[in-house]
Amino acid sequence: MKTIEEVIMKVREATAYKPTIGLILGSGLGDLADQLHQAVRIPYRSLPHFPESTVKGHKGQFVIGELEDKIVVAMQGRYHHYEGYSLAQVAFPVYVMKAMGVKQLIVTNACGGINTEFNPGDLMLITDHINMLGDSPLIGANDEALGPRFPDMSHAYSPRLIQTAKELAEQRNIEVREGVYLATHGPQYETPAEIRMMRVMGADAVGMSTVPEVIAASHLGLEVLGISCITNMACGILDQPLSHKEVIETADRVRNDFTALIQSLIRS
Ligand code: 6GU
Repeated sequence: MKTIEEVIMKVREATAYKPTIGLILGSGLGDLADQLHQAVRIPYRSLPHFPESTVKGHKGQFVIGELEDKIVVAMQGRYHHYEGYSLAQVAFPVYVMKAMGVKQLIVTNACGGINTEFNPGDLMLITDHINMLGDSPLIGANDEALGPRFPDMSHAYSPRLIQTAKELAEQRNIEVREGVYLATHGPQYETPAEIRMMRVMGADAVGMSTVPEVIAASHLGLEVLGISCITNMACGILDQPLSHKEVIETADRVRNDFTALIQSLIRS
């Protein structure tokens, strides 16, 4: 609690904005933050209790500004467990966004398709997740002022926001899928056998992020919408090796649909 207050004091020095919508932007999807008007940028490294980000293509800053007449805080770059951060460190910015005033959180990521009906470039609304990180950001003493010891996860991904997103996507002629996101800690991609196991478990897509932040959001009682960009098919589905380059190229290709969907969501 004290650490969060220290961050908020620093944020207040930079801006008086009180964002109500938070946006976590995944690999290759960070450009949306550049579309905020009257934006204030706060690098994570300028904030107390924020570790330094190490991944290429991840900028590592909060961008706070106006989008569709709403005040929005975007995380341009996020922390990943595979970089060596604990899940508590990965989830910490979510607590900060809540303290800024955020009520609703849109979480995005680039991930691999497990469901064989999916294609690279598809957008998937996350209906639920499977945590295979083997860990939780909530391990340790619980601060009851933030949330309950044993948070309910039955509606971690808001059915109301999923419904709204489906309607808006249809109006805009953007095709969206729905499915279950499974998080691994990575950084290696999965083996074909692991992907077969995950399919049996009920996963539609696999990635290395999102789950810690959504657990924190559930703890805080934030309303969450999760959007995955299927950047490639998971291992063993197509006869081709996986590459980070493909992930970034596909994210580039769907940028317009992705941005349009998020803008109309924020407007509504
Ligand atoms: Cl296939 N697996 C994981 N764990 N993360 C990914 C991915 C696959 N494709 C993009 N991100």
